[in-house]
Amino acid sequence: QRSVIVGCGSYLPQHILTNQDLATRLDTSDEWIRDRTGIRQRHVAAEGEMTSDLALAAAKDALQSAEMPVEDLDLIVCATSTPDETFPATATRVQARLGMTRGAAFDVQAVCSGFVYALAVADNFVRAGQARNVLVIGAETFSRILDWEDRSTCVLFGDGAGAVVLSAQPHNGADRQRGVLSTHIYSDGRHHDALYVDGGPSSTQTTGLLRMQGREVFRHAVVKMAAAIDTALEHNGLTPGDIDWLVPHQANIRIIEAMAKRLNLPRDRVVATVDRHANTSAASIPLALAEASRDGRLQQGDLVLLEAMGGGFTWGSAVIRW
Ligand code: ACO
Repeated sequence: QRSVIVGCGSYLPQHILTNQDLATRLDTSDEWIRDRTGIRQRHVAAEGEMTSDLALAAAKDALQSAEMPVEDLDLIVCATSTPDETFPATATRVQARLGMTRGAAFDVQAVCSGFVYALAVADNFVRAGQARNVLVIGAETFSRILDWEDRSTCVLFGDGAGAVVLSAQPHNGADRQRGVLSTHIYSDGRHHDALYVDGGPSSTQTTGLLRMQGREVFRHAVVKMAAAIDTALEHNGLTPGDIDWLVPHQANIRIIEAMAKRLNLPRDRVVATVDRHANTSAASIPLALAEASRDGRLQQGDLVLLEAMGGGFTWGSAVIRW
């Protein structure tokens, strides 16, 4: 079996917080944020609006674009590091609210690499014949775990959700058959201190706030994602010239451009939403996929490369024949 992306969806909270808004309450400026990150604004969830609300809206949008009834779904995998509650999984809340009463739903936690991890899990369920139709969601409300007094982190993140529907199709051996061609995931837990949340149920009994050594993360992000890309290309017998679209995790335009340069991809072959969404962690790739699929950039048969890196560290890549 091969898993084909048959639908994409997204949701962004209504409220937009601009760099100028942030500059009125913090010692920062629109210029500093744009120069260092490419970010101009971010969406922020309303009071009471939870990760599952964002996830549900993106999920409904994806199912609609796939023209798939909920009854056909047999698995939901939700990537999030900002679940509604410590348990149960946010995926089960989405399951209930979609009216899905069979199959299974669970969360995957790999921070900014979450969507690539969730896609890898879902794709492997499909390949193993254990699921036919899978909803893969990335949903986050990072605004809830930011230290809004810390200018070096709070300006970087935003809230949002994206989703895709994967559907099993028999592998027919054709050269350009659509589907997920490969996923590669990695982690190295030694880098905990570079990016973590300083709380949790078993350590502090609090939710905690995000802490980051920005330079350290930047340095590792470029090296690790480049290695993941090389492995993905080699695994599929591809050269950089074969890639039609790079859809990277959206953390920082400088990291994105470094990756594009490595692949020798012109700027207009890279899907970038970081200017408007900021870093939405696990939601950033499916949000970018939904945008580029809706506006017609991603065409059937295109070769799409995903890459991400996040806290853990975790990182990974996926290659998809769209
Ligand atoms: N406004 C104004 N000044 C600021 C701000 C701000 N918002 N934040 C930090 N500064 C100051 C610092 O205090 C420092 O001042 P100093 O020189 O007087 O001490 C100066 O700017 C430089 O700070 P650095 O942290 O060295 O700045 P750098 O050029 O490394 O940029 C950044 C910081 C943007 C965070 C960068 O390191 C980065 O993008 N790192 C990657 C982090 C990331 O993307 N994390 C997301 C999660 S992981 C992932 O998704 C890949």
